[in-house]
Amino acid sequence: MKNLVVLSGAGMSAESGISTFRDAGGLWDKYPVEQVATPEGYQRDPALVIHFYNERRKQLLEVKPNRGHELLAEMEKDFHVTVITQNVDNLHEQAGSTHIIHLHGELTKVCSSKDPYDPRYIKELPPEAIEIKIGDLAGDGSQLRPFIVWFGEAVPEIETAIPWVKKADIFVIIGTSMNVYPAAGLLNYVSPETEVWLIDPNEVRIDSFRKINVVQKGASEGVAELLTRLRQ
Ligand code: OAD
Repeated sequence: MKNLVVLSGAGMSAESGISTFRDAGGLWDKYPVEQVATPEGYQRDPALVIHFYNERRKQLLEVKPNRGHELLAEMEKDFHVTVITQNVDNLHEQAGSTHIIHLHGELTKVCSSKDPYDPRYIKELPPEAIEIKIGDLAGDGSQLRPFIVWFGEAVPEIETAIPWVKKADIFVIIGTSMNVYPAAGLLNYVSPETEVWLIDPNEVRIDSFRKINVVQKGASEGVAELLTRLRQ
């Protein structure tokens, strides 16, 4: 089976009702990124940051995977699919994809403020207790914080992602503005023989001279078209 590797971003979940970040009316218009998605913002006002992610977590309980997520999961019948996602939601999991690498953390998890990547203190919150508050402590005695990679923090999962990207026979970029590194830089690891697809309803500026097959559509329609074209 061919290796099909997907790099997904916020646009993947847009049709499920989760806002993107940089589109007009996106999350970073409503909440200043430096307040809610940086270690400095967290240090300054941990309660605000904890509240912001509690709200995101509550919203996640109200949404469902869209057809795009579902089709990617169904593609596992024909391809060895690896989903590398910048999204912190779990809609790829909910749709049934089985091999998912979360570059930017996971909304349903919390971790230690002292060492966010210490596996001993990363825990999944059950749906009935998805809110954390000041005073909730990780096993090392530090405040529990959202398991989210903020701007200015290391992205350790990039190391897990790179070998899969190198092995890709087909590389598919879906719903990301390709503004954030190191995620956007994964394209540089794709072999020259590999076919690259880009699914996005808007034009995306990509920092590469390689040939890219553009499907200018939303995630659901775009993945359906990709499937048709891969079968041709
Ligand atoms: P952006 O908000 O930067 O980009 C979203 C992309 O989705 C844009 O290219 C849109 O055109 C596209 N889009 C919109 N609707 C779509 C649809 N229905 N189907 C497919 N695509 C659609 O989001 P990301 O590139 O994911 O990091 O942003 C990367 C990272 O920056 C995020 O993981 C987040 C953010 O700050 C952290 O929070 C650490």
